[in-house]
Amino acid sequence: MSHADNNAGSRRDFLYYATAGTGAVVTGAAVWPLVNQMNASADVKALSSIFVDVSGVETGTQLTVKWRGKPVFIRRRTEEEINMAREVPLDELTDRSAENANKPGADASDENRALDEAGEWLVMIGVCTHLGCVPIGNGSGDYHGWFCPCHGSHYDTAGRIRKGPAPRNLDIPVAQFTDETTILLG
Ligand code: FES
Repeated sequence: MSHADNNAGSRRDFLYYATAGTGAVVTGAAVWPLVNQMNASADVKALSSIFVDVSGVETGTQLTVKWRGKPVFIRRRTEEEINMAREVPLDELTDRSAENANKPGADASDENRALDEAGEWLVMIGVCTHLGCVPIGNGSGDYHGWFCPCHGSHYDTAGRIRKGPAPRNLDIPVAQFTDETTILLG
């Protein structure tokens, strides 16, 4: 589906486009408010969906975009990250729910968390489920995924809580690929 198709009709005014150029490929939480071009009013933003161009995201890196007022992590995982996540038995997990808006009620297997079947892409709301800080990514923490420095929550390479006070896995928003290099959030 082309961007033009997606932008057709009455939804046009509610769709914003986030570009993952070289400078926009980032890791961790420090630079999450990078999509300042989304300058619509707050009520429009609350309803909006956005297209994210992920063509510039290299394997082993993460793009962070702002969506509905929150950071969203889009990580292109390495084979090692995928394997680490898929080897974890479900009974070792604190939260055994996928917490994936695309798969209500599904268990927390890595297959149910990843956006694509191969598991290369992981899209998550970048807000710690303890008290809302933004976790640091890029292989951080004891489980090589994300670490929340506020009170020490460790998330694995699938964004699942493994250690610390956070009660739930990082939430996965409604998301889908609309073509090979574009993700629609919302
Ligand atoms: S807000 Fe993340 S550990 Fe408390």
